[in-house]
Amino acid sequence: MLQQPSKKLVVVTGAAGYIGGMTCIQLKNKGYEVIGIDQRYNSHLDSFYDEFIQSDFAEYDALSLYKKVYPVAIIHCAGTSLVGPSFYNPYEYFNNNVSKTNNVLDFIVKNIPKTKFVFSSSASVYGNIHKDCTEDSPTNPVSPYGESKLMVEKLLKWYNESANLNYVSYRYFNAAGADANGRHGQEPEATHIIARLYDAGLNDKTFTLYGTDYDTRDGTCIRDYIHVKDIADAHIIAIDKSIQGIYNLGSFDGYSNYEILNKVQTMLDKKIITTISDKRKGDPSRLIADSTKFKYMANWVPQCSMDEIITDSHTWYTSETYSGLSASPRFTNSAAYA
Ligand SMILES: NC(=O)c1ccc[n+]([C@@H]2O[C@H](COP(=O)([O-])OP(=O)(O)OC[C@H]3O[C@@H](n4cnc5c(N)ncnc54)[C@H](O)[C@@H]3O)[C@@H](O)[C@H]2O)c1
Repeated sequence: MLQQPSKKLVVVTGAAGYIGGMTCIQLKNKGYEVIGIDQRYNSHLDSFYDEFIQSDFAEYDALSLYKKVYPVAIIHCAGTSLVGPSFYNPYEYFNNNVSKTNNVLDFIVKNIPKTKFVFSSSASVYGNIHKDCTEDSPTNPVSPYGESKLMVEKLLKWYNESANLNYVSYRYFNAAGADANGRHGQEPEATHIIARLYDAGLNDKTFTLYGTDYDTRDGTCIRDYIHVKDIADAHIIAIDKSIQGIYNLGSFDGYSNYEILNKVQTMLDKKIITTISDKRKGDPSRLIADSTKFKYMANWVPQCSMDEIITDSHTWYTSETYSGLSASPRFTNSAAYA
């Protein structure tokens, strides 16, 4: 077994997904050797992996690989990640997100203890909070999904205290946007608002707006959107700098659903047919990050504005790569207990 990590080699789990895929692109841009792991395969990302293993991230093939290559970091983007479906199938969320991650963390501290673990946590750990969240704000998840992220953060803390696990956990707010060159973005039938707006706008479907009676400036939910490229770059900062612990990753700003709707309509130069529906269970009215801690510790500010998010999304949703993709079953097959 190698005794020291390979300094320029990174493993990305969930590498066929939205954030994992963008992270592979940015890692390659920065000269890293990238090994992707995912239970699915997405051929449009092929050129951004040096190697790709189609496997569960916690099963034998993946664990053997971690040990064999001894990466400088494992960026753990794999996960089951929808708020609504997590109410129908909590087992899946606690098993896939928590139990399997626990197995990997135990494996890391015993076999590759110098590997840094970078975790995709979520703003959903805060629950229904009305002021800007700092990392010290109370956590109160309002869905099994959010709870699963918080549980992993507790695992990280205790593996750090008991076995010196070197980790960073990023609480992403709403990831949005796409690769500026149209090479990668969210897949068809993603439930993200920008994805649903483009689907409606480009295919003359109806866009459903969930809730217009929130206690916000225009009655619709307010969210903090961060460009997926900024998230990918933050992952690399976690490897390059000696930071540890939990960090919010947001844009310091918030946009309401109506504001996003208007921006996409302007970009498409078209009115999108919209219907108003009830609020979704577990959807807080306002989620904004205070990312001052990461800004201060890593000298970081998000590089991409909301206008770039919309422009890059437009490039992606009108690209040939996007139109060649089919819907991923993880977006459509959700409700085991329903
Ligand atoms: N997209 C967001 O706005 C957002 C916000 C906060 C947190 N996150 C978190 O970031 C991570 C990445 O999100 P995303 O938007 O890229 O999701 P995604 O669904 O596009 O990608 C997740 C990938 O993980 C893979 N995966 C799931 N379980 C696996 C397993 N057991 N073994 C191997 N592969 C597995 C899936 O096949 C998928 O390709 C998730 O953990 C999510 O909870 C996302």
